[in-house]
Amino acid sequence: MTLLTTNPDYRKYATFAEFGKDESQMRSSEELEVFGTSVLMAIDKMVASFDDVDAGVAHLQSVGKLHAKLDGFTPNMFANMKDAFMYAASVAFEDRYNDQVEQCFQTLFDFCIKYMQEGLQS
Ligand code: HEM
Repeated sequence: MTLLTTNPDYRKYATFAEFGKDESQMRSSEELEVFGTSVLMAIDKMVASFDDVDAGVAHLQSVGKLHAKLDGFTPNMFANMKDAFMYAASVAFEDRYNDQVEQCFQTLFDFCIKYMQEGLQS
C-alpha cells in the first residue's frame, strides 16, 4: 500500500489504485486481492519447485515477460517491491522473524526479482 500511495508510477497499472481512491478503498478492493494473490502465487510456485529449479526459473522468467506489454514498465519496478515483500514476511513470521529468516527471504526475493527482470528484458 505504501508503494502505491508513494509511487504514482505504479498506480497507473492497477485498476484498484486508480486516482481518487483512498487507502481504505484500495484495501477493500477485490482487484487488489486478486492481484496480490497472483503475485504471491508466483513466488509460492518458485518455492514449491525447489526440486526442479530450472522449471521454477522458467516460470519466473515467463511471469516477468508478461509485464513487458505494460507501457513504461521498467526492471527496477520489480526490485522496488522488495521492501514491501520483506515487510509482509516480517509480519507473517511475527516473533519467529530473526536475522536468519530475514536472510532467507532476502535471498528468495533477490532470486525471484533477478529472473523476472531477465524474462522482462528477453
Ligand atoms: C515481484 C513482483 C511481481 C510479481 C511476482 C507479479 C506477478 C504477476 C502475475 C503472476 C501476473 C499474471 C496474473 C494473471 O494473469 O493471473 C501479473 C500481471 C500483472 N502485473 Fe504483476 N507482478 C509483480 C510486479 C508488478 C508490478 C510492480 C506491477 C505494476 C507496477 C505489476 C502489474 C501487473 C499488471 C498490470 C498485470 C496484468 C497484466 C495483464 O494481463 O494485462 N506487476 N503479475
